[in-house]
Amino acid sequence: MDSLLIKGGVPLHGEVNISGAKNAVLPIMAASLLTSETCIIHGVPDLSDVSFMGEILRSLGAEVARDGDTLTLAATKVRGVGDYDLIRKMRGSICILGPLLGRLRKARVSLPGGCVIGPRPIDLHLKGLKELGAKITIEEGYIRASAPKFCGTDVFLGGRSGPTVLGTSNVMMAAVLAEGVTVIQSAACEPEVVDVAAFLNAMGARINGAGSPTITITGVGQLHGAEHRVIPDRIEAATYAIAAAATRGEVTLQGARPEHLHAVLDKLREAGVKVERRGTALTVRRAGRLRPVDVTTLPYAGFPTDVQAQMMALMTLTPGISIITERIFESRFMHVSELARLGAEIAIEGPSAIVKGGRPLSGAPVMASDLRASAALVIGGLAARGLTQVKRIYHLDRGYERLDDKLRNLGARVERVEET
Ligand code: EPZ
Repeated sequence: MDSLLIKGGVPLHGEVNISGAKNAVLPIMAASLLTSETCIIHGVPDLSDVSFMGEILRSLGAEVARDGDTLTLAATKVRGVGDYDLIRKMRGSICILGPLLGRLRKARVSLPGGCVIGPRPIDLHLKGLKELGAKITIEEGYIRASAPKFCGTDVFLGGRSGPTVLGTSNVMMAAVLAEGVTVIQSAACEPEVVDVAAFLNAMGARINGAGSPTITITGVGQLHGAEHRVIPDRIEAATYAIAAAATRGEVTLQGARPEHLHAVLDKLREAGVKVERRGTALTVRRAGRLRPVDVTTLPYAGFPTDVQAQMMALMTLTPGISIITERIFESRFMHVSELARLGAEIAIEGPSAIVKGGRPLSGAPVMASDLRASAALVIGGLAARGLTQVKRIYHLDRGYERLDDKLRNLGARVERVEET
């Protein structure tokens, strides 16, 4: 198992290319199951989650080939049953259920497990698929689904913490081959959902309203192959923007889409960080003292939960009190105790973390627990005096392409080492 050694205190400077979005490419790969024709996806990041999804598609009978950042997918013949262990290990794999049901009218996939950030139920996914006509039972750890008749209808997908991102894509991918019109109400508006809809429309689907809470899908008889370029990863972009601010640096994010980052950039500006658009690039620069800000995570276009931990790391460096409230996932504060090892002062009160910032951080061995928590520890380590060792960085490899290379190109003193 690898860990990352970080000698902190170096301001990041230079340009970083933002990779394709993990949370768009995973459901888009699953969507290729909807046709027997070849699909070509460009801008695919080299991440362990992407390789994992590739293995899952192969376990269903699809062909998956990679050439640089291009994936060629061909689900000429597919089975409705995938590898139990593979599927249960990655939460994102749940989004094969909709496409399999849509194409084969039957599917048997293992229940995705929960993870450290929360129990992660899939009741809304199943509710939506049942309303389209699927008969669904849970047996021996499997979701067993069949839909002799699959008919468009109105589906309300709002849950106790708002819409569901993968649930919206899953139901949308099932509905494209259903008879008649499906209207998803309280749909997730994330850019990744819009990108999935764009890919499906390129395959011949008829989807309107993606990006709004109401998505209308008119079922078609079949879909064809398509070629698509994935949107850039707004969470990766936000992570590098915050790392620039935390290290008193100046970083240009090449290929980021500012229109996907409004809530994050707005909070960074409120904290005193300079954010400039230069052509298609976005430059983030730390000029002077940071100001404490309060953040509440919300569904898109609100502040993303996937940037909460990174923003907390920045607020530990900011003199004053900041309140960070997590409204999407019950237990997404695993990074708090590890940031405390670097010297941060954070108290948890229910869904909020009260950050007493400003005390300089000092390097220490810390443990990654999940993808975004590990990104926060890397930011803390980059800003801290001395040496930080972030252990279990396989969490980072799930969602950040060549993070240590990219940081080194920005001047950071980081090294990937095998843990002894
Ligand atoms: C997606 O997860 C992302 N993952 C997550 O990113 C992201 O944090 C999340 O959306 C929210 O933005 C991928 O796209 C692969 P949800 P998803 O369903 O779709 C509750 C990362 O770091 N809920 O929108 O699984 C759920 O418990 C990952 O890249 C139900 O109650 O999230 C949560 O509280 C982590 N029932 C809320 O809704 C359901 O059936 C939002 O979850 C589904 C969800």
